[in-house]
Amino acid sequence: MAGNRRTDEISGVDTTGHEWDGIEELDNPMPRWWLWVLYATILWSIAYWVVMPAWPLMTSYTKGVLGYSQRGEVLSDIAEVKASRAGQEAKILSSSLEEITKDPALNHFALAAGKAAFGDNCSGCHGSGAQGAKGYPNLNDDHWLWGGSLEEILFTINYGIRSTHDETRFNDMTAFLADEILEKQDISDVAEYVLSLSGTSTDSEAANRGEPIFVDNCVACHAEGGVGNREMGAPNLSDKLWLFGGDRKTVIQSISYGRKGVMPTWEARLDPVTVKSLSIYVHSLGGGE
Ligand code: HEC
Ligand code: HEC
Repeated sequence: MAGNRRTDEISGVDTTGHEWDGIEELDNPMPRWWLWVLYATILWSIAYWVVMPAWPLMTSYTKGVLGYSQRGEVLSDIAEVKASRAGQEAKILSSSLEEITKDPALNHFALAAGKAAFGDNCSGCHGSGAQGAKGYPNLNDDHWLWGGSLEEILFTINYGIRSTHDETRFNDMTAFLADEILEKQDISDVAEYVLSLSGTSTDSEAANRGEPIFVDNCVACHAEGGVGNREMGAPNLSDKLWLFGGDRKTVIQSISYGRKGVMPTWEARLDPVTVKSLSIYVHSLGGGE
């Protein structure tokens, strides 16, 4: 068949000599540009084998003269981030809480670290937005049981409240019914007095009977007028905010059995940088003093 090559009269190009049912094929050369691209890619691939990791071997691979690896690049990126973090962490460790909040970059870093640590360690009890729940205080408002300054918050987080730590904040409200200190009737009356402090009492006679009972039994911790005492972690009973609840039944329950809410100690579980960052984060939530 190759012997049938001839020159096509119309285009002036040679045919390949192939012929199917009278149809023939012109033998046009590859375009120049196409050939150059082909040669260039061949050269590129050879250069690539030499320079970059390319061929798999039995147990390893050819590393190439550059020795590049993506894994190595990620590792060096991580090391870089760690190094820059280590600088910030060392600064947090050596600065006072006050100094950290005055350094915008450091404060920013501490807030981010504190927010992350809060999600991991605290939101289970205090809620993801630190809004609190029954028995777990809201950390966004400016009502504090034990104190809302940076240092006081740091102390609370480190040592806890009624926790297992020797330094823990501690004060147990008496369980007035369970410990047989007050009769049921007295408790009912003093509860009515407590409700009257926030203007929610419906029985002023009972509240009047409750007042002297309050003075004798409760003022030592909750202070005169029930305004609360942070030295003792005793909540303000005269506002409308309640840790456990402000309906009559819940107030009677609080008085009868006490509450003894426990906030764990974090000193042994979290490193000092994290505790400091948490203090700054909690302080920033809106109620910091
Ligand atoms: C196991 C539940 C629990 C966890 C987890 C917990 N807390 Fe608490 N926290 C409490 C309770 C309960 C109180 C209130 C104790 C009381 O009745 O005085 C409290 C109180 C506090 C207070 C004092 C508030 C005030 O008004 O003085 C701060 C601050 C605080 N928590 C921060 C944190 C931070 C930060 C974390 C995470 C590291 C955390 N808590 C984790 C239960 C918890
Ligand atoms: C030894 C100190 C102490 C004495 C005395 C005391 N309390 Fe308390 N009280 C507390 C503390 C601390 C709390 C915080 C709750 C906890 O234990 O977690 C509290 C909580 C309460 C609460 C719950 C408040 C809330 O926000 O839900 C009520 C109500 C209350 N006390 C009423 C009384 C009354 C009434 C008396 C007197 C009959 C009294 N307390 C005596 C320390 C005391």
